[in-house]
Amino acid sequence: MTTTLRAVDVIARKRDGGEVPTADLRAFVIAYAAGELPDYQMAAFLMAGYLRGFTRREAETLTEAMVASGDRLDLGRLRGPTVDKHSTGGVADGTTLVVGPLSAALGLQMVKLSGRGLGHTGGTLDKLEAIPGFRVALGAEELLDQVERIGLAVAAQTADLVPADKAIYALRDVTATVGNVALIASSVMSKKLAGGAGCILLDVKAGSGAFMRETAAAVELARLCVDLGRAGGRRTAALVTDMDQPLGELVGNAVEVREAVEVLRGERRGRFLDLCLTLTGHLAALAGVAADPGQGRRDAARALDAGEGLERFRDFVAAQGGDPRVADDPSLLPQAPVALEVRAPAGGWLQAVDTEAVGQVAAALGAGRQRKDDEIDPAVAVELDAKLGDRVDAGQPVGRILARDEHAARTAASGLLAALRWSDRPSQAPPLVHEVVGA
Ligand code: URA
Repeated sequence: MTTTLRAVDVIARKRDGGEVPTADLRAFVIAYAAGELPDYQMAAFLMAGYLRGFTRREAETLTEAMVASGDRLDLGRLRGPTVDKHSTGGVADGTTLVVGPLSAALGLQMVKLSGRGLGHTGGTLDKLEAIPGFRVALGAEELLDQVERIGLAVAAQTADLVPADKAIYALRDVTATVGNVALIASSVMSKKLAGGAGCILLDVKAGSGAFMRETAAAVELARLCVDLGRAGGRRTAALVTDMDQPLGELVGNAVEVREAVEVLRGERRGRFLDLCLTLTGHLAALAGVAADPGQGRRDAARALDAGEGLERFRDFVAAQGGDPRVADDPSLLPQAPVALEVRAPAGGWLQAVDTEAVGQVAAALGAGRQRKDDEIDPAVAVELDAKLGDRVDAGQPVGRILARDEHAARTAASGLLAALRWSDRPSQAPPLVHEVVGA
């Protein structure tokens, strides 16, 4: 993109609802990543595309150009099969902490580059950094050595990987153009493709704590992500899963590590474990080490029962400088000084959870960040034991707040109760998996 005229042509084409020719779109994205195109032209293009939509071919080109804008991780020297998983973001959604070790126990090699939490959603790196000593800044060689040795590494994505996405995402954030399926799918899949794994599994969330509130929109996003992964030559599948309530019972950082450890120790069952086994089963099937996802799930359950997942978790934590004793004694994780029980104000069935609000309550306690550079507090948390469809009596405990002081705890307790809607009639719990795409 050497002349202003061609950039204007690209914007005008999109504004008028046409398809931008592949070479022009590619040059447009690459020029922006190289600093040769001003923000206002990219912003105009994004808004035109947001309003007019993108074709499947444009989504592929956007993805491919974003990958080409930076480095790629070359996993060629790993034995494989290499796998990656990605959740589009939710609340109490720390599945990597369980799926990674279980996948490694099944002989897969998981190479995962992760981000930090923002707003109401938590980030894998923040959770892992709650483990004393844990390091997420790994160089490429160290990352690959570790994966070859123990089958798992989770590291911070570097600035050189998909710089175009970084720049475009920041612009989308301030131009009200985040919520477009093609822009989200190309953003997510460019990072997954640059991460190099041969098999990619997406966990696309739908519901009150997700980007996509409606299941139909989440399914559309899942389908496009699978198409983009396959166009990039990877075995790709996606699950559309429920985020109409927090996935696990604990929302925070240290507490989500504790929850994962308890699951790996066989001490905690429920929706979180259920989804972890399902995801691992799908990864095993994608990678060809299980005949189908059902077999993969049974293999994962066997590895869990045999303590192999916990063993891999210990290896993983130790390899990245963390204290592996947290796998045996979660009280070594940071602890908040104040714990406040939250009780149901009246009897009834839990009918709805504003999951985003629950995530915001945890973030306001200090567990998350509103701006990119905010510090987080690893110890504070919200616990929500009640699930959709549960019947409780007035005064019965439904959760707990872990906070720095009494005032913060009381504010969070009111926030949690305000996020719950009760009914005097029985209500149904939603299914955990809404749809499987591409398996
Ligand atoms: N997550 C991403 O990485 N990109 C988006 O556009 C939305 C969510």
